[in-house]
Amino acid sequence: MAMVYFRLNVFFLLFVAARGVEVTDENNGIPYGVDCSFPIHYKNLRCNGLLPEQESIYETFMEGCYAKYGSKHCDDYENDRIEMNLKQPESMVNYTDTGFKKIKAPTELFQLLKTHFDRNHAKMKEEKWPKGNIYVNHWASPTYMISVEDTEMEGGSLDLKNKVWNAAKPVVEAWTGMELKPTSQYGIRVYTEGAILNPHADRLPLVSSAIVNVAQDVDEDWLLEVYDRNGNAVNVTMEPGDMVLYESGSLIHGRPFPLKGRYYANIFIHFEPTGRPLNFENYDYVEEMDEFFPPYLLPNGGWADEWRRRNPTGWHQASPSAAHVDTLPAFEAAAHNDVKTLQQIAMEDSRSLFAKDRNGWMPIHEAARGGCKEALEFLVDQGVPMNAKTHKNKGVTPLTIAINAHSEDHDAVRYLKEMGAEL
Ligand SMILES: *[C@@H]1O[C@H](CO)[C@@H](O)[C@H](O)[C@H]1NC(C)=O
Ligand SMILES: *[C@@H]1O[C@H](CO)[C@@H](O)[C@H](O)[C@H]1NC(C)=O
Repeated sequence: MAMVYFRLNVFFLLFVAARGVEVTDENNGIPYGVDCSFPIHYKNLRCNGLLPEQESIYETFMEGCYAKYGSKHCDDYENDRIEMNLKQPESMVNYTDTGFKKIKAPTELFQLLKTHFDRNHAKMKEEKWPKGNIYVNHWASPTYMISVEDTEMEGGSLDLKNKVWNAAKPVVEAWTGMELKPTSQYGIRVYTEGAILNPHADRLPLVSSAIVNVAQDVDEDWLLEVYDRNGNAVNVTMEPGDMVLYESGSLIHGRPFPLKGRYYANIFIHFEPTGRPLNFENYDYVEEMDEFFPPYLLPNGGWADEWRRRNPTGWHQASPSAAHVDTLPAFEAAAHNDVKTLQQIAMEDSRSLFAKDRNGWMPIHEAARGGCKEALEFLVDQGVPMNAKTHKNKGVTPLTIAINAHSEDHDAVRYLKEMGAEL
């Protein structure tokens, strides 16, 4: 186990070192950190007069919300936003050295989105926001939706949404170096004159993400503001067809300078890491994963308690395969020595053979408990670690489970011993 841990860390170090520094946008102004362009960690600006207009812009922002919803609703949202900004980013595992990168969207992806926008621009619908939601000043500058899955839009369908997932996923995976699972796709959202996007970290599980600018009609660049690893603000500009990759759960991002122009249309595509580094051909990494928290959250971080409160039963993607199949059949088949079904599962999605349930059990533990020699043989053959423990430290191995459930000279126990399995 120690060796696996060591290898994973070496891998990450090499991975980070190989990437170098990715500079996305030059910063022409005087460097500044949070709470300068907009409140981020505290509710008042501390900026030594660097961006004097922003103070009254924020005041107008909050007053607009109060006038529409009353202060209670707005303050609740605003306090939540600030608390998340303070606590969530530092609790996140980062997979890139910069946290963001601007590239060109794949041509196919941009074409899908641009076509959808052009066909349906005239049919866009006003976006409905929950009471007091302060992420965008929609009370002053309404936002509109041209949803890719909205069947009232020409060409809108789940099929289109899936095409967008499929076109974006390999790009974000290549950037983060991690296998990803889709978690949320939102847009196309159309912002209007005066719009401000309140700087925030995305709620989990929106972790590894992309923004594509689909269309814009502006008098000045509408700046995306992010923070580099030194805590300095960076203005990122986008033109139609640009794609900004960002680690949205740890990177604070916003558009604190009001939109000057008619509209700005974006789609947001979010994924969460399954825990498997892309170039891992085996499943050692499963052993590394926490049994309760998702792989991208530090179990000792300041956000862990809050995450637990919001997810009392733990991370349900503990198995990477749960991304697309129900892993239960693998456990059942293993428990009943049903090798035929295991074979089928191996063909369709071999990763569910390596799944862990909430108690840290894998199918191989079920096979051991059931004394299922053939299932054990098959799983070991497939590369499932025969000494996998149910928990990192105090867990038990398949051999221990098999001996406890059966006699020392049971077929399954003998098989495991012959293979050199450990207690
Ligand atoms: C970002 O752009 C705004 C508006 O032009 C400017 O005032 C600010 O100094 C810029 N910030 C950085 C970090 O360059
Ligand atoms: C991840 O990035 C955020 C934002 O830059 C930072 O606060 C946090 O400490 C980083 N996480 C780790 C584990 O370094």
